[in-house]
Amino acid sequence: MDLSVLILAAGKGTRMRSALPKVLHTLGGRSLVRHVHDTARALAPVDLAVVHGHGAEAVREDLAEDGIRWVLQAEQRGTGHAVGLALQEAPIGDEAVVLVLYGDVPLIRPQTLGPLVEQAAAGTVAVLSVRLDDPFGYGRIVRGDGEAVLRIVEQRDAGVDEQRIDEVNTGILAVRAGTLRGLIERVGCDNSQGEYYLTDIVGLAVDDGIPVRATCVGDPEEVLGVNSRAQLARLERALQRRLAAALMDAGATLADPQRIDVRGELTVGMDVFIDVGCVFEGQVALADGVHIGPYCVVRDCAVASGAHIEPHCVLEGASVGAGASVGPFARLRPGAELAESSKAGNFVEIKNAVIGEGSKVNHLSYVGDATLGKRVNVGAGTITCNYDGAYKHRTVLEDDVFIGSNTALVAPITVGRGVTVGAGSTISRDVEPDVLTLTRAEQRTLRDWQRPRKAKGK
Ligand code: UD1
Ligand code: CA
Repeated sequence: MDLSVLILAAGKGTRMRSALPKVLHTLGGRSLVRHVHDTARALAPVDLAVVHGHGAEAVREDLAEDGIRWVLQAEQRGTGHAVGLALQEAPIGDEAVVLVLYGDVPLIRPQTLGPLVEQAAAGTVAVLSVRLDDPFGYGRIVRGDGEAVLRIVEQRDAGVDEQRIDEVNTGILAVRAGTLRGLIERVGCDNSQGEYYLTDIVGLAVDDGIPVRATCVGDPEEVLGVNSRAQLARLERALQRRLAAALMDAGATLADPQRIDVRGELTVGMDVFIDVGCVFEGQVALADGVHIGPYCVVRDCAVASGAHIEPHCVLEGASVGAGASVGPFARLRPGAELAESSKAGNFVEIKNAVIGEGSKVNHLSYVGDATLGKRVNVGAGTITCNYDGAYKHRTVLEDDVFIGSNTALVAPITVGRGVTVGAGSTISRDVEPDVLTLTRAEQRTLRDWQRPRKAKGK
């Protein structure tokens, strides 16, 4: 059975009060429409169409991807009109199933859609519904004797009795293409909004004796749409709860599953611990036994087993070796590679630099464009002067180098293995192995010097 998925995403989303098209607002770092797209892809459709209109270019850019059939709906004349347009050029036969999804209903899962598609393949008009405590604003599922679905009535067109119905239309439905084509061309716009309602196909199908079935989903959050920032925030939490549950299933302890934010893909090994307030972005992999302290931001990083990230660290594009220690208050920038058992301590910034096995940069340092060998000790306040105003240069510290505090290393420079650099030095020439090197002004002591004092009465 061939499947065609139509994603309706042409609307403006006035209530968002945003310059951004509604479907481009994000949940978990991905746009609403991207969530729907990814779910659609999981169903392996032969045709995937996105009906777009408001912010057309931005929407196309967000989903810049092969194999999307873009359908431009310049004027939004209703969901029925949108589906009609998308069907016109659909490269599918009458036996194919058409599944309609909304670009602003992001949390729908493939497991829920599968049965709907199967019902449609068997010849039913399959609608997804949900019971809501407050059904106001939604289309209502009107059932007759024996619970048979009769039609869907929109809020504005519903009578008093119909308004009491708490089973609402999620908008998601599946129908065979041939059936849908026949129904949609008979949908009119004689209603309170003058729009072509997709939902009218239900009543028309009942008239034709085509079976209609509405299946109620258990979890309202799965089918809630985003119309306002408050709803966006609610669904963000719902998504984060899902992700947190998956992380715990995979073996991570979360200090508080309510206080973690994953905006991308986070994979965890066993016995990972993540404290509160952490944000993970892009692709992040935490191996077995990794410990992440509170309030860290980790983007596109790999952290090897047993490494400890202390509180308040910002890591981007870095790799942290097994048993290494980072922070508190450290910043690892792209290209920072900390080898096994190495350390980047408090107020340390590392960029495009390899910190060799067992090497330590403990406090208040900037290490950029550098290669540190094994067991190197970098004293507090050490700076690699890697930039001459035009070019970046490399600093090489060979194995067992000891850099005294408050040293400036003027790159390009190589400090040979086993060298000790005296505190407060500015080192600008290469140093041969196993020596002490330092640059330091002589200390002077003046015995007859006095501190200035304020004269009395002035
Ligand atoms: C629709 C349903 C309603 C259902 C509700 C669920 C209809 C007539 N009503 O109402 O029964 O309870 O969704 O949220 O279908 N869109 C287009 N082009 C258009 C119109 C809409 O692409 O011309 C897209 C919108 O961008 C949105 C989706 O279709 O993603 C739904 O449109 P919206 O205007 O929000 O429909 P509702 O009035 O909420
Ligand atoms: Ca809506």
